[in-house]
Amino acid sequence: MSFENTVNNVDVTMQQWAELSKAAEIAFSKAYAPYSNFKVGAAALTVDNEIVQGCNVENASYGLTVCAERNCIAHGVINNQSNKTVKFTALVIYTAQEKLTPPCGACRQVISEFFQSEAIVMAVNHLNEQKKWTVSQLLPDAFTPHNLLNKT
Ligand code: THU
Repeated sequence: MSFENTVNNVDVTMQQWAELSKAAEIAFSKAYAPYSNFKVGAAALTVDNEIVQGCNVENASYGLTVCAERNCIAHGVINNQSNKTVKFTALVIYTAQEKLTPPCGACRQVISEFFQSEAIVMAVNHLNEQKKWTVSQLLPDAFTPHNLLNKT
């Protein structure tokens, strides 16, 4: 098992944030959430400057529901054209909720696998409000691939 320990630049331009927000809003419009009616869209920027999207996909068995963030990351994994593990520099979560939507605990764990701890996750809503966190604020002392390698 090998994981790259490279330090990627997690700086994101204003234009990229705007593009990510638009992509997350479009993903939101595709959400399959007939049980909760709580639609979520996500968009992530890869280190190769590609944008990938995801939406929540619910299921009649309820427990098999997959969140927008994890579907977005899975999209990045399958879309990856390089021979290196896909890495992301930013994530936007879009909902039409007055209270901005943070990622759930399971998603925080999966985000920690593919994003550097300084990367920014931003929640946005239909009122154009926003809130930003770093990945390490969302999940301090995360268990990551580096723990398996006994590296810092
Ligand atoms: N959901 C997400 O897609 N992302 C989150 O961060 C929070 C929750 C979805 C799961 C479910 O389809 C609906 O929102 C209500 O929990």
